[in-house]
Amino acid sequence: MAELERFLAQVPLFHGAPQRALEIAAQALQPRTFAADTVFFQEGDQGEVLYVLSSGMVKLFKIDLEGHEKTLAILKPPEFFGEMALLGEQGRSATALAIRETLVYLLFKDDFQRLLKDYPSVSLNVANTLSQRLRGMVDEAQILSYKDAQGRVAYVILRLYWNGLIDFNEEGSAILRLTHQELASLAGTSRETVTRALKALEEEHVISTRPKEVLIRDPEGLEEILHGVR
Ligand code: CMP
Repeated sequence: MAELERFLAQVPLFHGAPQRALEIAAQALQPRTFAADTVFFQEGDQGEVLYVLSSGMVKLFKIDLEGHEKTLAILKPPEFFGEMALLGEQGRSATALAIRETLVYLLFKDDFQRLLKDYPSVSLNVANTLSQRLRGMVDEAQILSYKDAQGRVAYVILRLYWNGLIDFNEEGSAILRLTHQELASLAGTSRETVTRALKALEEEHVISTRPKEVLIRDPEGLEEILHGVR
């Protein structure tokens, strides 16, 4: 199997897809590199392309009428994004930004739709991903609507941790490399509130902070705080 096909087999869009589907996708995909801080597309744009993420990291976010940014998700390889606008008549549901230098493979709408029609496993994978994302948003809406700032920030840190969006330092501890502003955008709150909540979590010894870094010292302790049992 060619290297690209081996990679595609790891992407949730192609899990369990027949070899022929991987070959067709590999022929259709076009690689593109985006520098850090490049916008792939803006919310509302017409969508013609699905993106398969091969390296780097992508943030999907929306801006409300008052100009507040809300991050919906941060994706890492081997995920994909940009499928929603190709499935209906509406434009992009969110803005996509490369937060590191990022290599993506573009799959154009016609090729995507042909794969959906010809390979039921690919269609089921899309449905599966949409349902997981919906479930994630429902859980998040529930938690962010009733938790205090400390609980919200604990949840956001844990979700990034559970999703593997972390690095490890020399001692093997998990580190989140995000600014307070970026955490605020995930938690749907202000930077000042995040700074105060991080300080409170630090006093509980579950995290420690450095500029642009949160060291996760005690994930179980964070969960206890999230569930209000500590
Ligand atoms: P599309 O609407 O074409 O462009 C924005 C993309 O962001 C969307 O397709 C999805 O791929 C992705 N997206 C939207 N909402 C979420 C979410 N809640 N979680 C993860 N990805 C999302």
